[in-house]
Amino acid sequence: MEDTSLLLLLFLTSLLSSTTNQASLTVSLSSSQMFEGQSVSLSCEEDDNSAGWTLRRNTSDETRTQCGDGWGKTAGSTCIIPFMVFWDTGVYWCESREGATSNSINIIVTGGAVILQSPVLPVTEGEDLTLTCKTKTSSNLPAGFYKDGSFIRTEPGGHMTIHHVSRSDEGLYKCNISSVGESPPSWISVTEKPTTTRPPMTTRSPMTTSRSPCTPPPPDTSAPPLTSDHFPLMFRLVCHLVVFCPFCISTFIMGSLYRHRTRGNTLNSTGADGTEYKAT
Ligand SMILES: *[C@@H]1O[C@H](CO)[C@@H](O)[C@H](O)[C@H]1NC(C)=O
Ligand SMILES: *[C@@H]1O[C@H](CO)[C@@H](O)[C@H](O)[C@H]1NC(C)=O
Repeated sequence: MEDTSLLLLLFLTSLLSSTTNQASLTVSLSSSQMFEGQSVSLSCEEDDNSAGWTLRRNTSDETRTQCGDGWGKTAGSTCIIPFMVFWDTGVYWCESREGATSNSINIIVTGGAVILQSPVLPVTEGEDLTLTCKTKTSSNLPAGFYKDGSFIRTEPGGHMTIHHVSRSDEGLYKCNISSVGESPPSWISVTEKPTTTRPPMTTRSPMTTSRSPCTPPPPDTSAPPLTSDHFPLMFRLVCHLVVFCPFCISTFIMGSLYRHRTRGNTLNSTGADGTEYKAT
């Protein structure tokens, strides 16, 4: 019986730690594309310092290299890259010692003359998305915008706004400015609407890295749509209960195990002559 409760306790503990151990990546960027020479700082904000989150990246010629290991300077929990160059183009993420990872962000550094200013974080369904086509000196020249290789339209002011984005707006965007050049392409992803309101996106946007256990799963497109507005709330409530209950149960089991153990010790320490030795 004791073995079973110990196993159960272990299981519940791992369940608990897997749901509480999270980190987020904070970036000081207004665009995922940039010209060479810009300074960037990225921070792994952690719930649990002992997890040892570090910033890592994949570039065209490096895999999983850590900040400070040939690139970037570590300053506390922040990694600073003072002068971005083309070679810094890549995927950046936070990773714990145990291998848990945050969401990743793409950073594109160009030595060219045009960038597409596009959000670093995924856009939420229903939001407006504004893309700006820029040269180093100007952001309001007439520009052509493209999605997945097809021309969309020319914007005389260099800004293209897509109102109320939907999942179908997800894709690979680029732009060009005549007689100056073309931007690199950027993948823009659109995520489902969250159930809670999140603060508006600013230049310092916290990025949640692992999906919270209490965030509803993404809708299954093959399933009929859920009509009840109460579903997310109920889901979260039930989920919180499910997360909270193991904690109570494990506390209870721990308590009863401890009592059991103490009783056992008292019995075992009774000597052959009947003298009782107290364990301290
Ligand atoms: C980084 O590169 C490795 C090896 O190619 C790959 O397995 C991993 O998924 C990459 N990580 C990200 C976040 O793209
Ligand atoms: C974009 O590039 C195409 C092909 O080079 C060119 O025909 C078009 O005029 C350019 N558009 C703008 C706005 O520069």
